[in-house]
Amino acid sequence: MSGAGSAGRTHPAPATIGDPLIDTHGRVHRDLRISLTDRCSLRCTYCMPEQGNEWLAKTSILTLDEIERVARIAAADGITTFRLTGGEPLLRTDIVEVVRRLARISGPDGTPVEVAMTTNGIRLPELLPALIDAGLHRLNISLDTLRRDRFHALTRRDRLDDVLAGITAAAESGLRPLKLNAVAMRDVNDDELVDLVAFAIDHGAQMRFIEQMPLDAGHTWDRSRMVTQDEILAALSARWDLAPLPGRGGAPAARWTIDGGPDTVGVIASVTAPFCGDCDRLRLTADGQLRNCLFSTTEYDLLPILRGAGQPHSPGAEVLDASIDGMLRSCVHGKLPGHAINDPSFLQPARGMNAIGG
Ligand code: 5AD
Ligand code: SF4
Repeated sequence: MSGAGSAGRTHPAPATIGDPLIDTHGRVHRDLRISLTDRCSLRCTYCMPEQGNEWLAKTSILTLDEIERVARIAAADGITTFRLTGGEPLLRTDIVEVVRRLARISGPDGTPVEVAMTTNGIRLPELLPALIDAGLHRLNISLDTLRRDRFHALTRRDRLDDVLAGITAAAESGLRPLKLNAVAMRDVNDDELVDLVAFAIDHGAQMRFIEQMPLDAGHTWDRSRMVTQDEILAALSARWDLAPLPGRGGAPAARWTIDGGPDTVGVIASVTAPFCGDCDRLRLTADGQLRNCLFSTTEYDLLPILRGAGQPHSPGAEVLDASIDGMLRSCVHGKLPGHAINDPSFLQPARGMNAIGG
C-alpha cells in the first residue's frame, strides 16, 4: 500500500495499515502472542513467586473489544498466527468469545488467521469443545513432570491429575499437532526426559523441551544449573535414534525424528542456540503493552491509544486504528537483533513470565 500516490516523491511513503511489519534487520513479523491474563492456577517456580506477586490492576486488562481491535490491525499488517497465553489463558471468563472473535479475522489475502493457545491444561476438559467450536486451531500444553509429588513441588499446587485430564481431552480432540512443553531442570525433572517423550507419543503429541530462561519472578535463574540442548539430546539418544528434521523456518523448536519417525521431539534452545535471527514474534501483554522480545526492557503502551486517555475528544475509528498500527511499527522498529542472555551485562526484564506471556 505504501507505493500509492504522490508522484515524484523522493522518500518512501510512511508505512500504513496493510504494510508488512519488517524490522531493521529484515525480519517479517507473522506471529502475535497475546497474553490474556497474568493470573494462573499454578505457581511454577520458574515463572512466579509463591506469594506476594503483584497482579496487574483489573482496570488495565484489555477488554475483548480492545484485543480484537489490535488483532485486526495486526492481521492486516501480515500477522498470521495469534497465540493466546497468560498467565493461564483459560482463566479468562470470556476465553471462548476471545477465541471466536479472533478466529473470525482474516489476513489481507482473505486467509483466516490461526488461533493457537499455550495452557496448563487444567480447564480443558470443560472448555475444549466450546473452544474448538469457536475456532481454536492448535494447543500447547505445559507438562514438566509425570510425578505427582514433583508436580506439587514445582507448581506449588497438587493438580497433576487435572493437567493429565486436560491432556487426555486434547488427545481425544482432533486438534493436531498437539504439543507438550517441559522446561528441563536439573535435579527436578532431568531424569524424566525419556518418560515425558514416551508419554507424549502415547498421546499422539509432540514433546518439546525448553531450556530454562532467566524469566522467573524470583530472579533465581542460574546458568550453571540449566539443562542444555546437548544434554537433552544425549539423554534421549540413550533410548532412541534421533535424526535432525530440516525445515524449521522461524519456529523456536528444532526437531528430531524418533527412530526414523513419524514421531518427533523438539528442543527450544533459547539460551545455548538462540534463534533470534529468524524471530517473527511480537507480544501483547494483558495490560496492553506491545513487546518485541521476551527479554526486551522497553514496552510500547497501547492503553492510552485504546482508551483515548487525556484527550478531550475520542479520536475517530480511523485515527485510532492508524495509531495502533503506528505503535505496532514502532515496536517492530525498536527490535534488537537478539537477546543478550549470554552477555555479561544482561538484565532480566522486570516482569515475570506470567505477566509477559509465555
Ligand atoms: N524458561 C523457559 N520457559 C518458561 N516458561 C515459563 N517460564 C519459563 C522460563 N523461565 C514456559 C512454560 C510454559 C510456557 C507458558 O512458558 O514451560 O510452557
Ligand atoms: Fe502458570 Fe504457566 Fe507460569 Fe506455570 S509457567 S505459573 S502454568 S503461567
